[in-house]
Amino acid sequence: MEFENTYEDPVRAKAYSKLEFPGTYFLAFRDLPEIFARHGRGRRTLDLGCGSGRSTRFLRRHGFSAIGADISDDMIRMARGLDPAGDYRRIDDGDLGSFPDGSFDLVLSMFTFDNVPTWEKKLTLFREVRRVLQDRGAFVSVVSSAEIYRHEWASFTTKDFPENRNARTGDRVRIVVTDLEDRRPVEDIVWFDEDYRELYRRAGLDLVERLEPLGRPDEGIAWVSETRIAPWVIYVSARSSREHNLALPWARDE
Ligand SMILES: C[S@@+](CC[C@H](N)C(=O)[O-])C[C@H]1O[C@@H](n2cnc3c(N)ncnc32)[C@H](O)[C@@H]1O
Repeated sequence: MEFENTYEDPVRAKAYSKLEFPGTYFLAFRDLPEIFARHGRGRRTLDLGCGSGRSTRFLRRHGFSAIGADISDDMIRMARGLDPAGDYRRIDDGDLGSFPDGSFDLVLSMFTFDNVPTWEKKLTLFREVRRVLQDRGAFVSVVSSAEIYRHEWASFTTKDFPENRNARTGDRVRIVVTDLEDRRPVEDIVWFDEDYRELYRRAGLDLVERLEPLGRPDEGIAWVSETRIAPWVIYVSARSSREHNLALPWARDE
């Protein structure tokens, strides 16, 4: 069955556009300014999978010049409405062709790869990210950890989806965002760490830092699992000098 982008939906796009940095989301954004300071080599940024623009506005607030790009018309419409001065572009899946080689110092993607379903689609995008980065540019990707789909959180519940526990890389999993007024489960694709590492390798991106942010007791947030288990993984990668053209794992199955 075709995986449908859960965010190509006007009701969900509207609900999502009201989301800022509550609860568990705070942990996805908390450490980014320090990460940008450590790895940033300039201000030209692409926010890949910008959604309704929360992550793009975050970049702009931190002094970056940011273009937000997304495959969902509904999300791009919301982003433009919330930030008329911003630059938001609707792109086709896997296609960053409107951006020349080396045009960005930083590519950020926040939760985008939770919704990119296959090895082939993820690798196509990773290679495109590599192409649009300048030589010393950095790619910061924040994704859901495999653990997020198996526990309870300040902003999410998964207790109604025990089947998530058996999911392997590439499988669909369900999760409810309790911070949203739209309580329909979101369908994501789970991806385990070793398989993300393999994608970076195949795309010719070197992993330079990997973080699993944990909640701290003094943050004034009613953490549930967040002080013990990381809900998010932050991967920082950079262009490596050579691109790997190894046999692709899905090609063997065809
Ligand atoms: C969970 S939302 C996150 C939005 C935003 N980054 C934020 O932090 O609020 C994920 C977004 O990724 C987008 N997306 C999914 N697949 C994509 C692809 N292949 N290329 C670009 N965007 C994609 C979805 O349309 C959705 O808007």
